[in-house]
Amino acid sequence: MSSRTVIRGGLVITASDEIHADVLIEDGRVAALAASGTPAAEAWTAERTIDATGKYVIPGGVDAHTHMELPFGGTFASDTFETGTRAAAWGGTTTIVDFAVQSVGHSLREGLDAWHAKAEGNCAIDYGFHMIVSDVHQETLKEMDLLVEEGVTSFKQFMAYPGVFYSDDGQILRAMQRSADNGGLIMMHAENGIAIDVLVEQALARGETDPRYHGEVRKALLEAEATHRAIKLAQVAGAPLYVVHVSAMEAVAELARARDEGLNVFGETCPQYLFLSTDNLAEPDFEGSKYVCSTPLRPKEHQAKLWQGLRTNDLQVVSTDHCPFCFVGQKELGRGDFSKIPNGLPGVENRMDLLHQAVVDGHISRRRWIEIACAAPARMFGMYPKKGTIAPGADADIVIYDPHAEQVMSVDTHHMNVDYSAYEGKHVTGRVETVLSRGELVITEREYTGHAGHGTYTPRSTCQYLN
Ligand code: URP
Ligand code: ZN
Ligand code: ZN
Ligand code: ZN
Repeated sequence: MSSRTVIRGGLVITASDEIHADVLIEDGRVAALAASGTPAAEAWTAERTIDATGKYVIPGGVDAHTHMELPFGGTFASDTFETGTRAAAWGGTTTIVDFAVQSVGHSLREGLDAWHAKAEGNCAIDYGFHMIVSDVHQETLKEMDLLVEEGVTSFKQFMAYPGVFYSDDGQILRAMQRSADNGGLIMMHAENGIAIDVLVEQALARGETDPRYHGEVRKALLEAEATHRAIKLAQVAGAPLYVVHVSAMEAVAELARARDEGLNVFGETCPQYLFLSTDNLAEPDFEGSKYVCSTPLRPKEHQAKLWQGLRTNDLQVVSTDHCPFCFVGQKELGRGDFSKIPNGLPGVENRMDLLHQAVVDGHISRRRWIEIACAAPARMFGMYPKKGTIAPGADADIVIYDPHAEQVMSVDTHHMNVDYSAYEGKHVTGRVETVLSRGELVITEREYTGHAGHGTYTPRSTCQYLN
């Protein structure tokens, strides 16, 4: 038996269009759009009608960079797939792509199986996986081919964190050569970790132990140098490259130059780099630890260059890098030694609202908001047009967004499993009202009506963003 929902009277915004249209949903997918008030739209009958008058009707957010339950620095990211995907839904995100981890000495398969086991049956929204490759050798390279075939089509490598996730240039080149052959996309954590570790040691020896030194040793120049090196290695391999969590304006310049040469080089930034700065890292009483992530927050002047990159398409995607650690008991592991503070910020619930605030503030247009938060990540990671747009045949992952509602971000009202908000007290205009995932109501007029296990695994095709 078919089930039909119609969303009436809203402004449908996609990456390409803004139209006053009604949306017909049938069996979890978008069946049709028709201009509101026209006979075609009026003729539709449905079991459920959602009135979106005065609201935006937008595709569910696609957050292509999350770390639920990530093991890091002797602890685990505090959101499980259950709590993290529920919080994502509250924030208008209906798909996440999380990072499965290969531990050194283990296969990719073991890591991927472990992440499937964590997620399966627990997610409120759909999810896919990238694979973190921490141990490149012949077997790993062969496994990459198999993973691409089964829908894990992107692989993160680290030029940072020696002894943990780190790959050297030879390992990176080999993985890139493999991805040039099998269609995979290398995602790079671009920071010169070997040089950073020297600066960490020297800072600690000088007694510089506060969180703010995390930002000082992880220099913008060392992000730019690694970004440049990754681009050149990808060029040698003939492979596309996606640089994750870009925070330094000098790194944006490297990406822009490569893109001007016509290379398939892409960049992602995150809300924390657009809205927060080294001022937060310098907050007293160890409060700065709440803002420790890598790449680190930068001085405020970098923000304008990140916004510019988002407007000029030198940066294509805004993901959260959601990797929450509680202040009490987790961030506190680094009291007296900033290098022991677990790296990562919470944000999966905040991204769509913060980027809408960027629309209100005049940084980006409404369509660019949907492009960088929904359509581009779906295309970059092989999920378009199933995800990332509202079009006939697409999954009915849809958010009814109230662009006039006012809210104040706070730990008291958020749904992420973490004891602080990185945006505590921030006023934003706009709020998620209702969220559908494959036609099912997950948030209904600001009530959670979803359930763990609704979210299904989404295998992905290869990158759909190449020149
Ligand atoms: O600080 C961060 N970004 N933590 C998560 C791991 C990573 O490097 O993305
Ligand atoms: Zn990273
Ligand atoms: Zn990350
Ligand atoms: Zn369900």
